[in-house]
Amino acid sequence: MEQYHNGNKVIDETMQGSATVINNVNSNGKKLYIESYGCQMNFADSEVVASILSEQGYSTTRNMEEADLVLLNTCSIRDKAEQTVRKRLKAFHQVKDNQPNLKIGVLGCMAERVKDKLLDEEKLVDLVVGPDAYRDLPNLLEEVETGQKAVNVILSKEETYADVNPVRLGQNKITAFVSITRGCDNMCTFCVVPFTRGRERSRNPQTIVEECINLYENGYKEVTLLGQNVDSYLWYGGGLKKDFDKASDIAKASAVYFADLLKMVAEAVPNMRIRFSTSNPQDMSDDVLHAIANYKNICNYIHLPVQSGSTKVLKDMNRGHTREEYIALIDRIRKIIPDCAISHDMIAGFPGETEEDHKDTLTLMDYVRYNFGYMFIYSERPNTYAARKMEDNVPHEVKNRRLQEIIKKQGEHSLERNKARIGKVDEVLIEGNSKRSDEQWCGRNDQNTMVVFDKTGNEKPGDFVKVRIDDCTSATLLGTLTTNE
Ligand code: SAH
Ligand code: F3S
Repeated sequence: MEQYHNGNKVIDETMQGSATVINNVNSNGKKLYIESYGCQMNFADSEVVASILSEQGYSTTRNMEEADLVLLNTCSIRDKAEQTVRKRLKAFHQVKDNQPNLKIGVLGCMAERVKDKLLDEEKLVDLVVGPDAYRDLPNLLEEVETGQKAVNVILSKEETYADVNPVRLGQNKITAFVSITRGCDNMCTFCVVPFTRGRERSRNPQTIVEECINLYENGYKEVTLLGQNVDSYLWYGGGLKKDFDKASDIAKASAVYFADLLKMVAEAVPNMRIRFSTSNPQDMSDDVLHAIANYKNICNYIHLPVQSGSTKVLKDMNRGHTREEYIALIDRIRKIIPDCAISHDMIAGFPGETEEDHKDTLTLMDYVRYNFGYMFIYSERPNTYAARKMEDNVPHEVKNRRLQEIIKKQGEHSLERNKARIGKVDEVLIEGNSKRSDEQWCGRNDQNTMVVFDKTGNEKPGDFVKVRIDDCTSATLLGTLTTNE
């Protein structure tokens, strides 16, 4: 168990899979079962895949036993995520014993690295498709139909699926994800993403705005703009971010940056909440902070991973900023957006991390007092700079003890932040029944904290309501619906 939220375990990779259902009017009678693991981007990608396959006549099912095609959208971020997927694939393979016509495919981040093994050695799957090759699925499936194994793991310089209208697979029909960039150029030394998802490229802003308007017209109330590093969004007519210098002067002059995109979306759908993830400290501009402050519908919440509080470790991680620069950014956020919630990602036990470095992490947390965080033990990933050049030399018990100290501290800070909201009236977007009781609603406030309150009978999921905060745990705010405040 490596991932924690508010000091409480919420999900780890073993629990992130979720099966989804769509129905298709132009059915070919075939059924797709798709499971997604890992980050929000993978869930958004599965919606692109469902869209591409629905054009081919596939409808989806939540029951694997009735599927003709089973797809697993995979995650490589930590070793554990990969182990989980392997276990799942073995389980799928057993189903195949009873359903010889069933086809099984692996999508996403594990595709490139494990394609030979899965297809040839272990013969677990029929189809392997990387994150930039989903448009090729219909052709690949034709190959599979003829009894061949099919593979496309080519990474692209242009693919953003800008024109694919995702089939929304989420259950609530209130909140949705919209991808704005693909890939990552940051090359953090621990991270496998630049290898599995390729170079960074941004999506045409017009198609992003259109997708948001379309969501609004279909009743959605909240959109989260997604990228590995949203602050580095840059549209200059297409192409890789790294080639921007070579663009024409006209293209440069009319370039759209992330702050511009935020404003475009905020103005296009003024009645929708706008969130975004993930922000990268070195690329976050004050223009973005001002956009958040100036537009009521852009939520006061920033997910700002730091990974470590030690400048030495940050340098070894190639994070592109020091502890002091991060603190200066936090100070600017507090000044420009006074009521802004901030969350983090943290890694315990990076190669060479000393007790002193770990203390720096704890004191940074004390300074920021994050609302919540996602905390991990360092996991060496193949091909990364850290794997090639650094020794994974922090013993597992030490990593784990440091992680526990980080989690404990975060629990204290989450509780403190939540307590500070008691007595305030928050606007909450109702998402559905609370986990514990059908008599209660749950939804998030502007700061992205879950709020639970009793139903009164006059409100429904998708409504924005005012809730007075009465009590809290470290993970949740508890309140009462109010009408006149
Ligand atoms: N920018 C990305 C980060 C993706 S990975 C985003 O959109 O979220 C999410 C988090 O996983 C990272 O911030 C980091 O804290 C953690 N992580 C990545 N590689 C890791 C590794 N090798 N070991 C442990 N944690 C890792
Ligand atoms: Fe990974 Fe760093 Fe990019 S964590 S996704 S290389 S910003």
